[in-house]
Amino acid sequence: SQRSLVLLKPDSVRRGLTGEIIGRIERKAGWKLVALELRTLERSVLEQHYGEHVGKPFYEPLVEFMASGPVVAMVVEGERVIEGLRTLAGPTDPIAAAPGSIRGDYGSIVRENLIHASDSEDSAEREIKLFFPGLA
Ligand code: GTP
Ligand code: MG
Repeated sequence: SQRSLVLLKPDSVRRGLTGEIIGRIERKAGWKLVALELRTLERSVLEQHYGEHVGKPFYEPLVEFMASGPVVAMVVEGERVIEGLRTLAGPTDPIAAAPGSIRGDYGSIVRENLIHASDSEDSAEREIKLFFPGLA
């Protein structure tokens, strides 16, 4: 099975949506949480996490937002979790995201789109090492 790194972004925590979102992930058959922590992210961690976006116009405000309050960082394990969590999250722009997806149900602003989930097996491996270096 696969593992994916999920971040419930500062807007999710501020708005009290983490229980709702974690519940949706937990209820998915065959998926389980293998790590979970409430944490305020250092800029250096965010620079590595969002390294692919350095130099883009949205990069600075993105890092600023992601450091603006605590996030819930998690590792989810199970059948096709990488693709499955991207589907559960919905597309980057919450207005383009279908109702039923997390971004589609709760978001309207591209930056404040509630959740991050790894976009490939390579990203998942890199991100899990970055956020949970001690995880077996
Ligand atoms: P993450 O799971 O957070 O990585 O989102 P994603 O994979 O759906 O999108 P991507 O990696 O392309 O971009 C990372 C984050 O930057 C997004 O979640 C948005 O918050 C923000 N972002 C991406 N593209 C834009 C954009 O065109 N405008 C703005 N304002 N923000 C953007
Ligand atoms: Mg991304």
